[in-house]
Amino acid sequence: MRITLSTLLIAFVGAAIAVGPGPNQIKNLVTFGDSYTDASQTGDGGVAWPTYAAGYGNFTLFPFAKAGATCSNNLTFAPFLSVAEGQIPAYVSQKNSGEINVPPEETIYTIWIGTNDLGANNILSGQQAPGVTVVDTTTCAVNWAKTLYDTGARNFLFQNMIPLQKVPMYQPNAYPNRYWTAARNTTAWSLEMAELVNAGNTMARLMLKELTPTLPGAHVGLFDSYALFSDIIVHPGNYLNGTAPLNVTDAINACVFDVDEPTNGPSFCTTATGTDKDSFLWWDEIHPSEQADRVVAREITDAIKRKSDKWSTWFS
Ligand SMILES: *[C@@H]1O[C@H](CO)[C@@H](O)[C@H](O)[C@H]1NC(C)=O
Ligand SMILES: *[C@@H]1O[C@H](CO)[C@@H](O)[C@H](O)[C@H]1NC(C)=O
Ligand SMILES: *[C@@H]1O[C@H](CO)[C@@H](O)[C@H](O)[C@H]1NC(C)=O
Ligand SMILES: *[C@@H]1O[C@H](CO)[C@@H](O)[C@H](O)[C@H]1NC(C)=O
Ligand SMILES: *[C@@H]1O[C@H](CO)[C@@H](O)[C@H](O)[C@H]1NC(C)=O
Repeated sequence: MRITLSTLLIAFVGAAIAVGPGPNQIKNLVTFGDSYTDASQTGDGGVAWPTYAAGYGNFTLFPFAKAGATCSNNLTFAPFLSVAEGQIPAYVSQKNSGEINVPPEETIYTIWIGTNDLGANNILSGQQAPGVTVVDTTTCAVNWAKTLYDTGARNFLFQNMIPLQKVPMYQPNAYPNRYWTAARNTTAWSLEMAELVNAGNTMARLMLKELTPTLPGAHVGLFDSYALFSDIIVHPGNYLNGTAPLNVTDAINACVFDVDEPTNGPSFCTTATGTDKDSFLWWDEIHPSEQADRVVAREITDAIKRKSDKWSTWFS
């Protein structure tokens, strides 16, 4: 056979468009993030999505996400192990000591961060480090891939932020709750949160796309959590399956405080139990429910195993 330039070109282009990991490539799942992802101190009142995903996909799970975390405590401080200063160093030290075995080809890394960076007690209410904006927190989240790449990691799936303006805490008609009892303009907060999340997610997409060519040999993907949660809100019947009326506005475990007497504890709580719980999108005023997390786990697993690219985009 005569090898022509065009044969070579076709071979090259063929290799270049093989984006994303192969369907049976990934065996290990390494997770970074906050309470949405923390596998031991779970945020959903049940089992966390990485534990479900490990079961659905037969992955070995290496969980590094920590409840309360932000991307960097230098930018948006929270008294928990942030991704940059706490979680990545913990991962690197366990990898270097041989405590964990994560061959690059068969290991994928995920990050789901931003809720605490943007939210109350940080950017939304002005407690971030001076001058810090959503540009800095987004840059930090995207840099996670570069930092891990430099330690040998090769497969990345970046989960963008959900529509946080729709969680009970940041809805226009939000009530004083366990996460925030002080008076605030709930309409203004909801509007601001919509701006922050949409700007952050759009920047993340562009920054990941720009980063990708600088990470040769890597697979870089974006999982669109914003689109998935928006679809759950519009079509709850496709995702929620409990025995109560489907509910995408209120929480399974909701507590209303008195804005004048917050230290007295909640004035009243409503709690859904048993099979009613799976009718709800939200566990409490901030967190997705366990059924929402089963959906996240299923969709992430399908993205990693390349059964579906419905919510994911592979840049390489
Ligand atoms: C699950 O993964 C383990 C470790 O990678 C492997 O030994 C086992 O065969 C897998 N099981 C199934 C059912 O695929
Ligand atoms: C955070 O600040 C500390 C102290 O200045 C510094 O050593 C560290 O590198 C910073 N972290 C990041 C991610 O820049
Ligand atoms: C709350 O914020 C909204 C949106 O910015 C504004 O229209 C409204 O006047 C504010 N309400 C109060 C009481 O300040
Ligand atoms: C959602 O749940 C809340 C709290 O249990 C309840 O007050 C509300 O009526 C429910 N909404 C729907 C549409 O069922
Ligand atoms: C809802 O579906 C999940 C699987 O996504 C299942 O584990 C759960 O038991 C179902 N809930 C109910 C109340 O049937």
